[in-house]
Amino acid sequence: KRPIIIDCDPGVDDALAIILALKSSELDLKAVCTVSGNGDIDNTTQNGLKILALCGREDIPLYRGSARALDDKQPDTVPAFGDDGLGGYAYTIETEKEEEEKNAVDFLVETATEHPGEITLFAIGPCTNIAKAIRKDPEFPKKIKQLIIMGGAKYTGNMSPVAEYNFWADPLAAKEVLNAGFQDAVMIGLDVTNKIALGADVRELLRIFNTKLSNFLYNVTRVGLDDNWNSRRKPVAPMHDVLTVAYFIDPTILTLKKANIDVLTDGIGRGQSIVDINGHWNDGRCNAWYAAEVDVNKFYKLLLTTIFEEKKE
Ligand code: BDR
Ligand code: CA
Repeated sequence: KRPIIIDCDPGVDDALAIILALKSSELDLKAVCTVSGNGDIDNTTQNGLKILALCGREDIPLYRGSARALDDKQPDTVPAFGDDGLGGYAYTIETEKEEEEKNAVDFLVETATEHPGEITLFAIGPCTNIAKAIRKDPEFPKKIKQLIIMGGAKYTGNMSPVAEYNFWADPLAAKEVLNAGFQDAVMIGLDVTNKIALGADVRELLRIFNTKLSNFLYNVTRVGLDDNWNSRRKPVAPMHDVLTVAYFIDPTILTLKKANIDVLTDGIGRGQSIVDINGHWNDGRCNAWYAAEVDVNKFYKLLLTTIFEEKKE
């Protein structure tokens, strides 16, 4: 099994990424780390514990990370996942599970050092914990096998015309992470994650499965659907983060291009990722892969068969 760590800010779509990772027989989720983003750090940490409990995996450790962005500001949350981050359904999951004592940043540095070249790290919230890990241990990027980021975009934004939420919430962290020298970094941004948003029609199909997880997903996506309908007249619920795990399970879901990616940290473009796929910068040297296209049908087939074809509980 391939060892992974998910650094996240659950969040409905973060929750779904964790669920997909746990349902895949190929992946070994070593730990979940939390960061402030979709909710404050107490909220995202509680939600992380709840999702592990929902999946019956209280054995997996959870490490609390950064409460604030690198500039010490608390990022605003987004309305798409409700006040509790789980579409109003967090209260339905009860657990005695507790977070670990160690901080997420210390855990990341220690684990990468103990297992150099083995871990694939998912960054599906603001990049704060990972930037702090790099500041603590500049060799950290070299010890990570692959870094898969949900963040940024080449052509669009969801917090401003040009900025995606995770990069907007901590742009300095995103910039430092992308320029830190990871041997294999993949940026999966809004250009592709917007395309896998859950349509109202496919959402109704979830009822057919009628399992604990399909009913949970049906319920928690209602707020996102309403939010997108009310604000943009689009009947879809966001699912951004889950595409990172789906890609890891089946890389043919995405078409990647070698790129040099940087992030604006200030001004009108704050949080914007600039994606150079034409070698304008750094003599054409690249720092990441950019996800340019997604095979939406392949994604849904993988998602639905991996998560929902379970025995009725
Ligand atoms: C990203 O922002 C968060 O709200 C989601 O969980 C996702 O990680 C999308 O812009
Ligand atoms: Ca997230």
